[in-house]
Amino acid sequence: MYSNLSKWSIDPDKVKQLVKSHYGIRGEIRTLPGEIDLNFKITISDNLHFVFKISPPGVDLNHLDFQYKILQYLNGNQAPQVIADVSQNPTPYFYDNQGQKRYMRLLSWISGRLWSDVNPHTENLRFSLGVCCGSLTQRLHSFDHPHAHRKFEWDLSQGSWVEDHFTLFDSHQKSILQPFLDSFKHFQKEYQELRKSVVHNDANDNNIIVSESLIDPQVQTLIDFGDAVYTQSINDLAICCAYALMNVPDPLEASLSIVKGYHHAFPLDENEITFLYTLIGLRLVVSVTKSAINKIEFPSNDYLSISERPAWELLEKWAAINADFAYFRFREACGLEPHPSYTVFTTWANRENISLKALFPTLEKTLVFPLDLSVSSTWVGGEEAFNDLDYFQFKIDQIQKQQEDKLIAGGYLEPRSLYTSETYDKYGNEGLEKRCIHLGLDFWVPPSTPIHSFYDGEVVMAFNDKGEKAYGGMIVLRHTVNGLVFYSLYGHLSIHSIRQVQIGKKIAKGKCVGWIGTAMENGNWAPHLHFQIILDLIGFQNDFPGVAYHKQIRTWQSLCPNPNLLFKSANLGVFKKTNSESLIQDRKAYLGRGMSLQYRTPLHIVRGSGVFLVDQNGRHYLDMVNNVAHVGHEHPRVVKAGQLQMGQLNTNTRYLHENITRLAKRLIDTLPEELSVVHFVNSGSEANELALRMIKTVTGSEQILACESGYHGNTNACIDMSSYKFDGKGGSGKPDHVHIFPIPDTFKGKYRGADAASEYVGELVNQIEGLKQQQKKLGGVIIEPIISCGGQIELPNGFLKGAFSEVRKAGGLCVVDEVQTGCGRVGSRFWGFQLHDVIPDIITIGKPLGNGHPIAAVVCTPEVASQFNNGMEFFNTFGGNPVSCAIAHEVLKVITDEKLQENALNIGSFLKSGLQDLAEKHPILGNVRGQGLFLGVEFVDENLQPLAAQADYLINRMKTFGVLLSTDGPSQNVIKIKPPLVFSMQNAIYFLNHFALILQEDLMKLRK
Ligand SMILES: Cc1ncc(COP(=O)(O)O)c(C=O)c1O
Repeated sequence: MYSNLSKWSIDPDKVKQLVKSHYGIRGEIRTLPGEIDLNFKITISDNLHFVFKISPPGVDLNHLDFQYKILQYLNGNQAPQVIADVSQNPTPYFYDNQGQKRYMRLLSWISGRLWSDVNPHTENLRFSLGVCCGSLTQRLHSFDHPHAHRKFEWDLSQGSWVEDHFTLFDSHQKSILQPFLDSFKHFQKEYQELRKSVVHNDANDNNIIVSESLIDPQVQTLIDFGDAVYTQSINDLAICCAYALMNVPDPLEASLSIVKGYHHAFPLDENEITFLYTLIGLRLVVSVTKSAINKIEFPSNDYLSISERPAWELLEKWAAINADFAYFRFREACGLEPHPSYTVFTTWANRENISLKALFPTLEKTLVFPLDLSVSSTWVGGEEAFNDLDYFQFKIDQIQKQQEDKLIAGGYLEPRSLYTSETYDKYGNEGLEKRCIHLGLDFWVPPSTPIHSFYDGEVVMAFNDKGEKAYGGMIVLRHTVNGLVFYSLYGHLSIHSIRQVQIGKKIAKGKCVGWIGTAMENGNWAPHLHFQIILDLIGFQNDFPGVAYHKQIRTWQSLCPNPNLLFKSANLGVFKKTNSESLIQDRKAYLGRGMSLQYRTPLHIVRGSGVFLVDQNGRHYLDMVNNVAHVGHEHPRVVKAGQLQMGQLNTNTRYLHENITRLAKRLIDTLPEELSVVHFVNSGSEANELALRMIKTVTGSEQILACESGYHGNTNACIDMSSYKFDGKGGSGKPDHVHIFPIPDTFKGKYRGADAASEYVGELVNQIEGLKQQQKKLGGVIIEPIISCGGQIELPNGFLKGAFSEVRKAGGLCVVDEVQTGCGRVGSRFWGFQLHDVIPDIITIGKPLGNGHPIAAVVCTPEVASQFNNGMEFFNTFGGNPVSCAIAHEVLKVITDEKLQENALNIGSFLKSGLQDLAEKHPILGNVRGQGLFLGVEFVDENLQPLAAQADYLINRMKTFGVLLSTDGPSQNVIKIKPPLVFSMQNAIYFLNHFALILQEDLMKLRK
């Protein structure tokens, strides 16, 4: 049935002439892809285009009429319009060179982009695809045409023909194809009863038109009604899914927004949803069968088998999905209760009155002490704490001692951070996802405690689920109540428990199921029972998930109802998380509006762990922006150092205490000998305030030189010397005593050539000269070794040396602000100023020193220190207290012990060169710069104009994949990269892979 297109081709001059003679239009001709018709785009002007179609010889006129009638019926509403020729004929014809009659059609052009040209395909876009297809099905429901009832191989309801061609496939391929066909055939009777209508039937990548918007594109319409047919309406959604799900990591999850959109426009009924999984599979089966046939019939026509490889890839993935689970997910997408028996189960369970004693008859306890093991629970502690079995058990025992008469239990639907083994991870459509939602109830009872059946049941699983953090001994019973079948799962039992039962064994209500296992036999957990109710085993035979992905929580909640529906214990509620929206409202009500939130949809972070921040749903975000958590979020050694000292003493510095001197010595050890006197404060701002006071006291002048776009803190004096603030939004300009020199940016600053350093020094010299002329004395200069807020700008070689020399000549002091760059972050040196072969008079240290705890410091030369000590006491209530000093000391030790400076150098160099490689391929990345794990990537156009929208888009897309970044620089077009120094090679690769992926997206292309 396929025409060989090349054989019937028409040359463009002829097309031009046909269009002119039949439609009176003249335009540029471009060939478009097509399976049956020859298609051309006719461009009359920038805003006026048409599609010109020439059918192959011998085309079925009924078919042409059918297509014409559909378009006429749709009347240009989300579909092209047919334009009649000069004699009002919608389908005129001509005779080609071979004397064949060829029919023509001219259609209005729908502007937009083809789905195949759009990147990325976001959830929003998929939803709009569903809506578009659904609305079309809805509108065509009252349309019909005799030709719509034709025999047609692409009509899914006629799809069984494929079986005759399965001989074209090998046995593995057949094993994938056959089940879809079998399932389709098996339910023919029910399938035949589904709603029918004329449907588009071919929503493939080249038939979907998407809006031009590059940030939030929407599907506008479908084109090409050549495959329209009268069939089961649901087939159209299946076909749309089959194409749109190709090339996505997790097709089932991706299908849900399409289904949701379709259902929104054309509500599906429960029976239709039952068939969706099979029909999507069947469409793929038809597609690969067609490709296999075409390869033999038309070996040179690549277009005919264009989707073969991705179709096979999708088929393999689709076949691996449990059909029932897909059905429950689709039901959820359509707003139905995901499991159809959920209501029946809950109605039954609500009527039952089962005591907790039924499960644990030997314990004689009915009351519950609820244990919160959620990701936001402070009881859980850090990873080290909850993975320390003895400690965990000790804490359980402590509770049990105080709550002797209670069962310690809880955990239904709790998001937990306890599942640290990789078996809980998968790579989904939005990057790495972790299963963390607990589906059962945990009862923390001693080993060997007997567990009894609360209801008559039969053993359907009994096995040893070996491995770290697995179930260990596990038994599943099947129960039947008035036709309703459900299951109960008992995890973390002893191995003896599973040896003494056989599959099929009946266990009557009140009889023993098994005994609680020890840590050695239960997957290495503190002893407890994991008790879960299951309505469907969804194909599992020797395992069943006890923990689910958060994205699927609603489906799992329905599939595994709350076990407490049986017991009705007042203290075993479903985990309730804090509502993020109410937090936003409270912030608005109670906090200063100037305190901004990051991201369009703010994150609600409840836990930190190494390089990760964890939100309240347990999602892990790779933190690449928080240089405060210098040695990793909640580093156990740092946490412990703080906890221990906090429990012993915290007071001010007016007493002797070794913590403060020990820390001062350790800091001084990292510095050149000239910098040897330390004062402790609580923040970077306070440190810079103190540095300013020192300048004033020592030089008698408050005249300060500071860098354009610099930021040095939030106090009055710090804002005064922070051009990033006073020149920015809400700023009121430079005060008189502050003198700003241009940012030494050799990429797009004032000077860019080989002499840039001396030219920038020249700018300082001019400022100093200006002061002299006004008879003013210079107090000093303050600068960061890499200008962070200014856009991660590296100082050109020789600049700092030259600048310091000029400042000193004028009698000023040189202050280096190491608040962002210090403590090993720049990799090759411990301090940023050491990159420039200078020794400042004063350095200020902040963020990294306390790893999140507020401690900061000012280190200066003995000369500065002795002149500062002019009789006025320096007292700071909190600065240098024993707790802060214990924490900072541990931070410095961890940097050494874990070789974190070396890590910053190695991983930083890897990241930088990876980014530089990407910049070669993507001109939007104008400049990659920085040192160690303190990098910047600048987004510019070909004229070096900042591209802030693109940088913002990128960080928001990276957030979708679980990577946190932020923008900086005066134009907010620089992505700053400054992760905790425990950032690993694996983290770097994850980041680079996703960065590279997003750089291929439409908004990232430079357009004229
Ligand atoms: C370079 C620099 N100096 C000083 C500060 C002020 O530090 P803090 O916020 O601890 O007061 C900051 C804060 O971001 C900074 O980036």
